[in-house]
Amino acid sequence: MDVQLIRRQFSSLNHDWILFENAGGTQVPDQVMQRVANFYREANVQPGDFYPKAVQSGQTVQEAHRFIAELLGAPSPHQIIFGPSATALNRLMSVSLQQRWQEGDEIIVTVSDHEANVTPWVFLEKFGLKVKFWPINPDSFDLETEQLKNLLTDRTVLVAFPHISNILGTENPVAEIIRMVHDAGALVYVDGVASTPHRVIDVAEWDVDFFVFSTYKTFGPHGAALYVKEDILKQLASVNHFFIGNKSPVKFELGTPNLEGCAAILGIRDYFKAITGITGDSFPRKKIVALMNNIHEYEIDLAWKLIDGLTRFRSVKIIGLSDRTQRERRVPVVAFTADSAAPEQIMKKLADRKIALGSGHFYAYRLIRYLELLQKGGVVRASLVHYNTGEEIERFLMQLSRILD
Ligand SMILES: Cc1ncc(COP(=O)(O)O)c(C=O)c1O
Repeated sequence: MDVQLIRRQFSSLNHDWILFENAGGTQVPDQVMQRVANFYREANVQPGDFYPKAVQSGQTVQEAHRFIAELLGAPSPHQIIFGPSATALNRLMSVSLQQRWQEGDEIIVTVSDHEANVTPWVFLEKFGLKVKFWPINPDSFDLETEQLKNLLTDRTVLVAFPHISNILGTENPVAEIIRMVHDAGALVYVDGVASTPHRVIDVAEWDVDFFVFSTYKTFGPHGAALYVKEDILKQLASVNHFFIGNKSPVKFELGTPNLEGCAAILGIRDYFKAITGITGDSFPRKKIVALMNNIHEYEIDLAWKLIDGLTRFRSVKIIGLSDRTQRERRVPVVAFTADSAAPEQIMKKLADRKIALGSGHFYAYRLIRYLELLQKGGVVRASLVHYNTGEEIERFLMQLSRILD
C-alpha cells in the first residue's frame, strides 16, 4: 500500500491533525467532491426523461447501484437499495418484514450491535413478536455460536447481528452464523457498517439475506445502502406508492433519489481506480477484492501496532480482543478505558493535542451498559482506516502517555 499516494487523494487531510474518528465517518477523496461538483454542473435534473441531462442523471443513479453491487458481491444492481442512513433502511425493512410474520414469532438481536440494528426489531414487539438478546462473552468479547444455538427455536424468523461491532472491532464468523441461522429456517440481517471500509464483503458467497452499510463511513456521501437476497426481495411488501408496483429497488427507495449522492458514490469508484492505477471505465469485482485484501493486510498492522502500544500502559484496559493468536480478526477500531482518567477527559486532552477521536457509547448503548461502563462514561475509541499511518499511531501513543502519566 502506497499510503502517501492514498493521502494525496484526500485534500481534506492537508492539516496537522490526526483523525482517529473514522468509524463516525470517513473523509472523502477528491474524486468524490469532483463527481458531486460535475453532477451539479452537468446533470442536476429529474432522471427518467429523454433529454441528455436527464439521461445522464438516470445513468448516474443506475451506475451507482451497479458499483455498490460490485463492491458487495451482489448478483444484480436492483438488489441494492439506497436510503438516508442505515438506521432508516433497517426501520423500513422492519415495517415491510412485519407483514410476513405472526404473533409469537421470535427475533434474535445481539447486545453488541449499534442500536440501528436493534430498535427496528424491538419495535416489532408492539405486533406480538418476541425479541431475545444474544449476549457476548464478557471475557473474550465474542458472540459465541453455542449461545446462539440455545436461543434459536422453530419460531425464530430473524437473527440480526453485526459483521463487526463499532466498539469491539473484531470480525464475527459471518458465514458460519448465517449457515446456522438458515439451518434453523430463519433469515439473517447483517450490519456491515463497521466492516465495509475494512474488509472484502461477499454477500452472495455468504448467502446473507440482508446486508446494510453506510456510504459515509466508506469514503462516500452521507447515506446508506442495503443488499437484499433476490427471492426475499421479490416477496417483500412494497412501502412505496400503490402505482409503483413491485419493482426493485424503487419499491423501497422513497421519493426522488439522492442524485448527487449517487454521483458521489461513483467518486469512490474513481478513487479506488486511482489508487490501483486502473484507467478506463470498468472496475471489475476482482480488482475491488484485491484492493480490499491489501487494505485488510495494511490495517491489521495498524490495529496491532495500536493494541500493542495501548497494552503497554498499565492503567489502560482494551475493550475488545487483544489475543494475538486471533490477529486476523481485528480491524483498527480499538476501544479502551483508563483507570486514571474518564473517557471524555482523555478525549478532550487529546483534542488539545490535535488528535481527534470520540468517547462515550457510540450508540452501542446496550453493549456499554452490559459491560458496566455506562456510569463511567463509556469508552475512548480510536478508529483508523487505510489513510492513517503507523507514524500517527506513534504520535498518538506519545501524547496519551503525557495525559495518563
Ligand atoms: C455499526 C454501526 N451500525 C449502524 C450505524 C448507523 O449508521 P447510520 O448513521 O447510517 O444510520 C453506525 C453508525 O455509527 C454504526 O457504527
